[in-house]
Amino acid sequence: MSKLGEKVSLDWAKIGFKYRNTDFRFRAKWDNGQWDVGRLVEDSFIKLSEGAPALHYAQQCFEGMKAQTAKDGRILLFRPNLNAERMRRTAERLLMPSVPDGLFIEAVEQVVRANHRWVPPFGSGASLYIRPMLIGVGENLGLRPAEEFEFRVFCSPVGPYYSEGGLGSISLAVSQYDRAAPQGTGSYKAGANYAAGLLATKDAIALGADEALYLDSRDRRFIDEAGSANILVLIDGDTLVTPASNAILPSITRRSIMILAETDLNLKVEERAIDLREEFESFVEMAACGTAAVLSPVKRVWFDDEWHDVGRSPETPIMQSLYDKLVGIQSGILCDPGHWVHPIAL
Ligand SMILES: Cc1ncc(COP(=O)(O)O)c(C=O)c1O
Repeated sequence: MSKLGEKVSLDWAKIGFKYRNTDFRFRAKWDNGQWDVGRLVEDSFIKLSEGAPALHYAQQCFEGMKAQTAKDGRILLFRPNLNAERMRRTAERLLMPSVPDGLFIEAVEQVVRANHRWVPPFGSGASLYIRPMLIGVGENLGLRPAEEFEFRVFCSPVGPYYSEGGLGSISLAVSQYDRAAPQGTGSYKAGANYAAGLLATKDAIALGADEALYLDSRDRRFIDEAGSANILVLIDGDTLVTPASNAILPSITRRSIMILAETDLNLKVEERAIDLREEFESFVEMAACGTAAVLSPVKRVWFDDEWHDVGRSPETPIMQSLYDKLVGIQSGILCDPGHWVHPIAL
């Protein structure tokens, strides 16, 4: 199924990162202990009971991924199997039925194919953001899991998440709030984590930052992550360090960049606790990474009531190289030895 016709007419360079109601979304229902086959629908509204556990107890989770047009016209997903796996893991934590990987990938492919005219062209700087979500529906008042669930996948063309775009740099402000408790749900993509972060983001923006930066909630010393991205730090010029924390979302982008850093740039890579105040002076480069953020160098960090500049130079050559490698693979320009890109047959 797809609406015939030319690409939609949008000024791709200026579309921003926002919801656009595209032609089709995929919907599958879980009832009586099993998933139905699911199908594409045109209705962007979900009709659900006011007693739905997704609404009261945040029994819901989601994923975020992108499809891009390659130079040769193919449409590419990036490591969608890892999104399927992460959603399974989150669903188990929140007592929701897992979406089988086959259903997950099939749904994503159907949505991209059906909304083909919304996929931004190669070189436009924009991509098709895909949002799989799993919500507890049905009706329930007591604090217990839903008995019915909906798995839905919709998509929306988007530009860069941060206003700069490309490899534009950003600033982060350490939040006074905690994102996730050490044994909490921080490593799962549960909507509840994000509701709690809205105020931190608002405060960060009021300070002139792009995003909040969270420290570990036990000691408030070690870097956890940003509001919607993981953190990478280049130390000593040849070591790429990323926080070891079980309270952060295991980013697929970060996992991929750490591999590229080691194999393509011959950097040492480390996953360990990073003490922000003690180690800040040794940061040569710093970046936020994620599906939406891609890889955005961080040039300033707000903590202890003042701004601190990252590194001694405004240039971020290592982050630039990592960005070029990552985006090159994601858009089909560079070879893909790990078979990370997943072409969608049109
Ligand atoms: C809190 C948080 N951390 C990190 C990421 C980056 O994860 P990924 O690279 O899998 O998109 C995201 C975005 O998905 C996120 O919301």
